Amino acid sequence: MFSRVLITGGSGFIGSNFIRYLLTARPDAHLTNVDVLSYSGNQENLRDLEDHPRYTFIHADICDADKIRPLVAEAEAVVHFAAESHVDRSILDTRPFIRTNVLGTQTLLDAAVATKLERFVHISTDEVYGSLLLDRTDLRFTEESAIKPNSPYAASKAASDMLVRAAHHTFGLNTCITRCSNNFGPYQFPEKVIPLFVTNLIEGKKVPLYGDGLNVRDWIHVEDHCEAILAVLDRGKSGEVYNIGADNEQSNLDLTRSILHILGKGDDFIRHVEDRLGHDRRYAIDSSKIRRELGWSASRSAWPDALISTVDWYVKNPGWWQRIRSGAYREFHETLYGNRPPANPAPASA
Ligand code: NAD
Ligand code: DAU
Repeated sequence: MFSRVLITGGSGFIGSNFIRYLLTARPDAHLTNVDVLSYSGNQENLRDLEDHPRYTFIHADICDADKIRPLVAEAEAVVHFAAESHVDRSILDTRPFIRTNVLGTQTLLDAAVATKLERFVHISTDEVYGSLLLDRTDLRFTEESAIKPNSPYAASKAASDMLVRAAHHTFGLNTCITRCSNNFGPYQFPEKVIPLFVTNLIEGKKVPLYGDGLNVRDWIHVEDHCEAILAVLDRGKSGEVYNIGADNEQSNLDLTRSILHILGKGDDFIRHVEDRLGHDRRYAIDSSKIRRELGWSASRSAWPDALISTVDWYVKNPGWWQRIRSGAYREFHETLYGNRPPANPAPASA
């Protein structure tokens, strides 16, 4: 058990949920959160913990070696969430992804090796495996699947995974890599599909569904992800990769209709728009390794209840997302959707 844990990117969606989860799960843990507060980092996510005696916030960039090294030196373990995380942004401009996801990860690894850190957990993604075919439902990503990233975001995460692997192999750093599927839950930045669609609908706006809407994602509740990360932090074997998922594949069209149904809206609130460039068709994660070796399994992700409670969180917390949507987010939203042409060919009707 590690009691002094440095968390990077803890002011974002998953990092803030993990900090909340870990402070409760481990009454002896002292957590330091280092976050640069980029567009998706939001101090409001942890406002209630500002004066918590076991929580410290440091405003810094993970690429800043001088600031990062003393923080790593004080920690027993690092859990590394900080990243540029949105695929669409990586298509508009890849460079911030290379800077934070690749150079930032290497900056942390250099500090970890130099200070003889006891444990480094790298939070990666199933997107490094690329895409699966819709009609091969027998296939899912395992830890042995080839690394075949398709988006600039996924490529930058794959590069960071390789750097973590190299730090383990070359310098003997105690590392684990986790690769999780799509998360949903409270505090997700409202440019990702679920909070975007929910908040659009609450405001009476249509939801922009990419392409034919048949792309499949494998959804897991963020608290299940947090619990799995803690299992890896505690018991993961050094040098290993662990897939994390909840066996919950949904097409985007089905997901959209579920959200519409929960909020009492019909299909007329769907706006079919041009597809994402290079849009991965299907993700599906095989998480049998972590279940078998670390005894973890998802317990909070079952639909429709987990989706209903997530939608309800956004309904009950309009102040949180309205402040985001009224700021810089709106400019990005305009760049992405303002002049986006309608879908072509015609969208699926089923
Ligand atoms: P997010 O965008 O909500 O949060 C990212 C956080 O990192 C923000 O607080 C941001 O300010 C911070 N950050 C960005 N650049 C930084 C820098 N240079 N220095 C310090 N902090 C910086 O992302 P998220 O959805 O919470 O994802 C967290 C991690 O989990 C990412 O590594 C992502 O690749 C991975 N992941 C996400 C999902 C998902 O569905 N959201 C699934 C699997 C894996
Ligand atoms: O699989 C894990 C990944 O999941 C993480 O590594 C990423 O950080 C995270 O952002 C997420 O990536 P996706 O690209 O799958 O998530 P996003 O919410 O952007 O999109 C989910 C699906 O919904 C995807 O097939 C694209 C579609 N979509 C998305 C948006 C934003 C739409 O149809 N319309 C939209 O407006």
